[in-house]
Amino acid sequence: MSGQTVSTVKPTEPNEHGYRSFALGEFTFSRDEYFVYIKWPTGRHVASADAFLRALQRDVAWEFFYGIVNFDGVIGTVNHYGTVDLFAGRYNDAYRKAELDHVENFETPVIKATFKAILEDWTNAAFDPFASPHETGTAFGPKNGDNRAAVNRRRVTAKRMVAVPGDEALRSDANGFPINRHFLDVPQDEPEIIAEPGFEGEVSAFNLFAYLSRSSVTWNPSVVSVCKDSLYCPTTEEYILPIVHGNDRVEWFVQLSDEIYWSVEDRDTGAGRARVIMKPGDVAAMPADIRHQGYAAKRSMLLVWENGAAELPALIASGKAPTYPVDF
Ligand code: PHB
Ligand code: FE
Repeated sequence: MSGQTVSTVKPTEPNEHGYRSFALGEFTFSRDEYFVYIKWPTGRHVASADAFLRALQRDVAWEFFYGIVNFDGVIGTVNHYGTVDLFAGRYNDAYRKAELDHVENFETPVIKATFKAILEDWTNAAFDPFASPHETGTAFGPKNGDNRAAVNRRRVTAKRMVAVPGDEALRSDANGFPINRHFLDVPQDEPEIIAEPGFEGEVSAFNLFAYLSRSSVTWNPSVVSVCKDSLYCPTTEEYILPIVHGNDRVEWFVQLSDEIYWSVEDRDTGAGRARVIMKPGDVAAMPADIRHQGYAAKRSMLLVWENGAAELPALIASGKAPTYPVDF
């Protein structure tokens, strides 16, 4: 959808800080210099503008991702792949017990258009919600321009594999992807391909470490190779994953460099389940009934391995497939 707004997006005129307010169903969203305010019929919530925009950016860019995207312990979305729930307190035990939680379901294009309009209006010129905190200016203050180039970045989604002719291109200084300050020691040589005669156009390989060393964004898995439903979605991580992801399927993590600390909780209640420290070479499977958030003190490389099969969430939710990946 290329239109900036669909008819259902309902912004107000700018407030005294220069920001518009938005309504979606019975939810309203507004912001001032520091905070975002969300209201629904049974409650209200406040979030820091930088954290909210970082979460919103990912929800929009990832088309609501797999399963649940918690912006924090109260607000978030559930992807039903065609429609999306917007909730307040739905996965928060205290809100549930007090019966203050609220959920509304929207057609995906409707919630996406509203979220995109909020993201564009509330992101100032200096702020890049995908950048590490060290590599962006401030999200705060009165409305000051916009950063549409950043918030509308094209997501890398290879059809077969990066570097295959006609598919996603390699990154280089020349096409605007310099090596990140934390990855200056990563070798940049590319593999030599020696194909059997007749297969010259059909063999491809690339240096994934070099490719990732040139990522300009953080906490943004991009599809670099596809084999049926097997999706390799590596990403570079620094500071905190801006969402708390509630899985609807198992995900595998392979720590390619440096270190990430994961907080793992029960998906529905938030009760603590595990703390995981992943070091280079470590492999973990995140079960289908958890939510998790990662912390990286230094930029690191993580391979997220997703199973894109559309039938998985229903199989797991109905108990026909397990919430864990392997029996030993
Ligand atoms: C995840 O929720 O599994 C996830 C999301 C973004 C990342 C890494 C992992 O960058
Ligand atoms: Fe996840």
